[in-house]
Amino acid sequence: MLVVIFCFLNILFSVTSFDLEDDDDSWKELTFSIRTDGNGTIESAHIQWTDRFDDSFAYAYTNENRTDLKFLYDKPRPELFVSKNFIVDAFTQFMDFFQNRTKISRISVTLPSLTDDLKKITKRKNSVKTKPAIDNFRFNSYDSLLYNELLRLSTGIPKQLKISFFYYPERTEKVLDGTILNHPKVREITELDLRTVESDINDAQLHQLECESISLRSSTVTNAGINRILKEWQDGLRPTRYLKLVNDDLQKAEIMDGVSKRTLQRGVWEIKNRFNASATVTVSRVPTNLYDSKPTFEFAVS
Ligand SMILES: *[C@@H]1O[C@H](CO)[C@@H](O)[C@H](O)[C@H]1NC(C)=O
Ligand SMILES: *[C@@H]1O[C@H](CO)[C@@H](O)[C@H](O)[C@H]1NC(C)=O
Ligand SMILES: *[C@@H]1O[C@H](CO)[C@@H](O)[C@H](O)[C@H]1NC(C)=O
Ligand SMILES: *[C@@H]1O[C@H](CO)[C@@H](O)[C@H](O)[C@H]1NC(C)=O
Repeated sequence: MLVVIFCFLNILFSVTSFDLEDDDDSWKELTFSIRTDGNGTIESAHIQWTDRFDDSFAYAYTNENRTDLKFLYDKPRPELFVSKNFIVDAFTQFMDFFQNRTKISRISVTLPSLTDDLKKITKRKNSVKTKPAIDNFRFNSYDSLLYNELLRLSTGIPKQLKISFFYYPERTEKVLDGTILNHPKVREITELDLRTVESDINDAQLHQLECESISLRSSTVTNAGINRILKEWQDGLRPTRYLKLVNDDLQKAEIMDGVSKRTLQRGVWEIKNRFNASATVTVSRVPTNLYDSKPTFEFAVS
């Protein structure tokens, strides 16, 4: 009898420890980034990761081993790899990590564009290949092919997607392709943050979003498009809880046309929906941060 119990406990214990050691291969964070010199020439590529025990590691890739490589003083100090095709080598290692985890809480990719060389790496066939679940995606890039590829190679719907620029001057030169909002996964993301990049998002693309929180810049979205969203929220038809929109031509009268409201102050209203939930609507030209002097619309459920 004792032997039986002992064996049973032993099996139970080994099953449990098996779970602990092999089941949870999750990482908290994995980032890939390209760094340029003052003239925009790519100098190095970097991978950093943080495992589930909060330990962080880094790799740095460059084409010349010099004594003045500033990133060698990064924290954590990166292990250095020197090769001719250092961007391809770094991205290959990044994808090897990405496709060998079942969960990574945060992924961040800073890359001007997914060139043909790099696209081949996302398309390759290899033996070990998992599709990790990602909570939080951040891309510092205007290249929608990059977002599409990493969404395709991950499983489930992320909670958060943030898209920003690779380098600051791009903000005035480039426009984000709004078709990324048509992606079935992007439509259902909880929090969509495109606040730093100008985009060509239109009314239809905004309208079909099921996100709870949306921040974006687009002058293609119309006052009528915003008005429709407010009316649908009042009818209880929208899950939206927060919407911020920077747009060149915001007209208060058109936005609030036919929306029952209570004026709180100039350009600020309280509106209610059929479930008696209350929200605040603000239309202002007051800069919300240093570089935002454009008109801003904001809707926030209280
Ligand atoms: C940028 O280019 C100029 C002219 O070619 C050169 O003199 C300068 O050293 C470069 N700066 C960097 C950071 O490489
Ligand atoms: C880079 O150079 C240093 C000394 O100059 C050497 O110790 C190190 O091993 C080199 N690293 C690589 C990756 O070649
Ligand atoms: C995948 O990760 C495991 C550890 O979780 C490691 O032993 C293995 O070498 C990795 N495979 C690749 C291809 O990186
Ligand atoms: C709606 O809420 C207000 C206060 O927030 C309350 O006075 C009112 O009775 C509520 N109406 C309904 C129908 O629940």
